[in-house]
Amino acid sequence: MTESENFIRFSVSLPEDLLKEFDKVTEILGIQGRSDAIRKAMRDFIVNYTWMHSSVGSMAGSITIILDHEITGIMDEITELEHKNINLIASSMHVHLDERECMIVLAVRGNVKDVEKLNNELLALKGVKLVKYTIMTPEAELP
Ligand code: NI
Repeated sequence: MTESENFIRFSVSLPEDLLKEFDKVTEILGIQGRSDAIRKAMRDFIVNYTWMHSSVGSMAGSITIILDHEITGIMDEITELEHKNINLIASSMHVHLDERECMIVLAVRGNVKDVEKLNNELLALKGVKLVKYTIMTPEAELP
């Protein structure tokens, strides 16, 4: 960060629990202050998604989703996305984490742009809390 950078203040609405968790991780990592932690988290987000966006060709990997199954319609929406993308999804696993939270792991293979589109559609669903996208084998290593 250079000193010539302009800083902008903005307000964000988020669940109290999410902020508590964020502050806890910030403390564990030894980051000084919430603003610095948010800057680092935003850079991490940008790097991750820029990298995904610049990827081309075929891949195999996984999409892991954490969701709140009590949000109306969420399970149907995910099932619909899975059916729409049967050519991309090699396997799917549903783990009930507790009374509300579920983890779904999708093993995916195919065109990276198609997988990215699926990832983004999942991320956009209300009730989906977290989506992690992992590329295990880029184009060159696929048969
Ligand atoms: Ni479940």
